[in-house]
Amino acid sequence: MTNSKSENSTPFSSLENRSLKTVWHPCTQMKQHETFPLVPIVRGKGVWLYDSDDNGYIDTISSWWVNLFGHTNPQINAAICDQLEKIEHVMLAGFTHEPVVELSERLKQLAPGNLGHCFYASDGASAIEIALKMSFHYWLLNGQTQKNKFVSLQNDYHGETLGALSVTDVAIFKKTYAPLLRPCDHVPTPDWRYAEDDDTPEQHALKAANALDEYLAKHHAETAALIIEPLVQGAMGMGMYHPIYLKRAREICDQYHVHLIADEIAMGFGRTGTMFACNQADITPDFLCLAKGLSSGYLPISVVMTTDDVFQGFYHDQSTHAFLHSHTHTGNALACRAALATLDIFAQNDVLENNKVKAAYLNQAAKPLAAHPKVKNFRNCGMIWAFEVETDDADFAEKCFAAGLPHQLLLRPLGNTVYFMPPYVINEEEIDLVLNGTLQVINTLTKNG
Ligand SMILES: Cc1ncc(COP(=O)(O)O)c(C=O)c1O
Repeated sequence: MTNSKSENSTPFSSLENRSLKTVWHPCTQMKQHETFPLVPIVRGKGVWLYDSDDNGYIDTISSWWVNLFGHTNPQINAAICDQLEKIEHVMLAGFTHEPVVELSERLKQLAPGNLGHCFYASDGASAIEIALKMSFHYWLLNGQTQKNKFVSLQNDYHGETLGALSVTDVAIFKKTYAPLLRPCDHVPTPDWRYAEDDDTPEQHALKAANALDEYLAKHHAETAALIIEPLVQGAMGMGMYHPIYLKRAREICDQYHVHLIADEIAMGFGRTGTMFACNQADITPDFLCLAKGLSSGYLPISVVMTTDDVFQGFYHDQSTHAFLHSHTHTGNALACRAALATLDIFAQNDVLENNKVKAAYLNQAAKPLAAHPKVKNFRNCGMIWAFEVETDDADFAEKCFAAGLPHQLLLRPLGNTVYFMPPYVINEEEIDLVLNGTLQVINTLTKNG
C-alpha cells in the first residue's frame, strides 16, 4: 500500500464538497460535516479502502457488516462480469432465470432444516417486512385472525422501515417515529451484559427464556411471531448470548403456536462461527432472513427462507390467497450471481475452519487491549469482537472514528462499544495493525498511555 498522493486523484475537498451538496448521507447529522470531513473512497482491495490521496484504511467493520471476502474480490468480480454479458435483470413475476433457481437450490441445501422456499428482496429491512407479513398472512389464511402482533427481544434491531422499526428496540432510531409504528412488546434480552447475581451466560439466557415463556403464556393468542437476532444483537453494541436461548425459544414458540423469525441479516454466512447462528442451537426457525453477507456485500439482495408448511398455506386456486408483496428487484440476476460466487468461495475453501485460526490469533494478540484499564467486557463470537470503553464523553464514537483514520483504521463504534467485524480475508499482519492502532486510539481518547 502507498501513501503518496496519486497524480490523477480527485482533490479531497472537491469530492467531499460535491457529496455534501447533493448526497444526504445515512445515519448522519449532516451539519457535523461542516467540521468533520467525509472520507472520499476511490478504490478498495481486500480489507483495504483507499481515499483519493491513496491513504489506506482497514475496513474493520466490513462496510456495515456486509463484506466477507474483501473488496474487489476477483472471483466475485468475474462472476458479475460474466452475468452482465447474459442478462442483468428480468422481473421475477412470470419469468425465472438460472442464477435465482441455482441460488435457491443451494440455499436450501445450506440452511437448517426444511427451509426450502426462498422469497427475495433487496435489503434487510425489506426481508423483515416480508417475514412479518408472511407470518401474519399465514395465520389469517388459517382462520387465526387475532394473531396480528409481534414480539421481539429488548435491544433487538431489525431495520428502519416502519414494520421493521416497530419490532426494533433501539431508542435512537425508534423514538421520533413512534407515532407511526405498530405497538410491539419486547421481552428481556439474553445478552450476558445484563446478567445479575453473577449468573453465567447460560443461566442468564435461561432466565430470559423463562420471561419469554411467561409472556407467551399470556399473549400467544394474539401473537403471530417472535422475531429475534440470534446469538448477537448487533446494533445495540454486539450483545452476545448463549445458544440455549435459541433452543428454548424454539420450544416455547412450538408450544404456543407462534412463529419464530430468525433475523440473520447480519449474522448469517459464518459471522458467528457457524454458517448460520441457528446452527449453534440446532434449531430451524419458521422464517430465516438473510442479506448483507449473502452477496459478500457486493450488490443489494436479501431473502426470506421458509418451510413447506408456510408455503402450502398460500398454495391455492384463488389468487387472493397468494402472498401479496411486489418488490421490483426481487431475484436480480447480477446480485444472485454475486451470491453464488460467495457460496462458491465457501464451498471451495475451508472458510469456517480458517476463520477459527484467525479468531484464535486475534484473541491472543488482543490480550493487551482486553487488559486495558478502560476496556470492559472484551468478548468474541466467531468473527466478531466487541468491548466497551469506560468514558463519559458523549462524542466518543465520532472521536474514535476520527482518531482511527491516521492509524489506517475504519473504526465506527456503537456508542462506547468498539467492535471489529472484519472481512474474513484479513491476515495476521493486518490483525496486528488493527489491534495496535486501536490500542493507541483508546489510549489517546482516555488519556491513558
Ligand atoms: C439484524 C439486522 N436486521 C435488519 C437489518 C436491516 O438491514 P438493511 O440495512 O439492509 O435494511 C440490519 C442492518 O444492519 C441488521 O443488522
